[in-house]
Amino acid sequence: MAEYRTLTAAELAAEKERLETAYRHIQQQGLKLDMSRGKPSPEQLDLSMGMLDVLTSSDILACETGADVRNYGLLEGIPEARHMFADLMEVDADEVFVGGNSSLNLMYDTVARNMQFGAAPGETPWGRQGTIKFLCPVPGYDRHFGVTETFGIEMISIPMSPTGPDMDLVEQYVNHDPAVKGIWCVPKYSNPDGYTYSDETVRRFAALKPAARDFRIFWDNAYCVHDITDTPDTLLNLMDECKKLGSEDMVYIFSSTSKISFSGAGVAAMAMSRRNLAWAKKFLTMQTISFDKINQLRHTLFFRNKEGIRAHMEKHRALIKPRFDLVLGMLDREIAGLGIAEWTRPNGGYFFSLNVLPGCAKRVVALCREAGVVLTGAGASFPYGVDPQDSNIRIAPTYPSLQDLEKAAEVLCLCVRLAAVEKLLSQANAA
Ligand SMILES: Cc1ncc(COP(=O)(O)O)c(C=O)c1O
Repeated sequence: MAEYRTLTAAELAAEKERLETAYRHIQQQGLKLDMSRGKPSPEQLDLSMGMLDVLTSSDILACETGADVRNYGLLEGIPEARHMFADLMEVDADEVFVGGNSSLNLMYDTVARNMQFGAAPGETPWGRQGTIKFLCPVPGYDRHFGVTETFGIEMISIPMSPTGPDMDLVEQYVNHDPAVKGIWCVPKYSNPDGYTYSDETVRRFAALKPAARDFRIFWDNAYCVHDITDTPDTLLNLMDECKKLGSEDMVYIFSSTSKISFSGAGVAAMAMSRRNLAWAKKFLTMQTISFDKINQLRHTLFFRNKEGIRAHMEKHRALIKPRFDLVLGMLDREIAGLGIAEWTRPNGGYFFSLNVLPGCAKRVVALCREAGVVLTGAGASFPYGVDPQDSNIRIAPTYPSLQDLEKAAEVLCLCVRLAAVEKLLSQANAA
């Protein structure tokens, strides 16, 4: 079919009628499908069930130093877990703090700590500096923006590109505005575009000269080993680049096994300079006596090391890749060439972005919902939940079965077409 924009009003009206008939037909099927959140499928969770068998009641539950993991102690995590995460996050083991079940929790606490107590000894707490700001590459992870919104931190959108955030703009804000205290980054397979920051972008991050001494980069490397193609992206090591320039206090790195083992029942970690870690631990030690070291031990016994994790991720890939292929293939067949949408095609991660005609994202999401397919709310990937273009839709293909996904993708394509034709027809009629 020709590009929708080239159709006459009469042709658009005929197309609209045809699509509405198909839509009514789908509505009658009473579908109940969910493509809204980036959750692993049950089959992916099954891959880690062996972890429940690596410890038994007759085992001696000791970590490699001999410490009893059933008891209090080792606030920063058991040594083998620190080593495993150090490998994963490409930092030194003594820069790693292994926490509980959620990296988002570590990020929230890090923001809260800086708000309440300051980012370093002697620094005024962020919360006592008047208006403070965070840069938010968009589209981005809705829960990051939720954290900063909760603390009343002003959020400034920075456009994303396939090489990362617009670094000219990042430098302009960070290097000149002392109220800018942080930036949210998902540097590999970003949520939702699936973009990986280029080497140049990483180097420019390391070379930032913040106007605020207490500016910090929140480097959420949630998808560091989550490749799904034979041509995986590679990410330059930010900590190494920072160390070359003496700027390592500027960065906090986060990761977790939420999408490696069990979501919400995995292990999370953060990495930072020894100075930053010593400061963080001063407060962490008041928050808890120690995290769940039995779960840390279970993870290290099950995975052993980074190679073990990589081998495990191959099994995830075998389940995830066909799901991405299915939805992307359907978009290629049904939508490409109509000039009404564009989409990203990541080499890994959990999401891709579908960008529909400006002003149509909310309508597509509503049409899908009324046909029984739940998508992430339009605007969710933007600060304050507002996409100024009303164009971006985050697609999360991992959770549904292939059968459900096929149906959901069919509905999605139909709704993208219908919303576009409605828009173009109303424009043609108004002209
Ligand atoms: C970029 C990103 N960071 C963090 C998380 C949550 O991680 P956790 O379960 O470790 O809190 C997610 C979950 O979707 C995510 O997409």
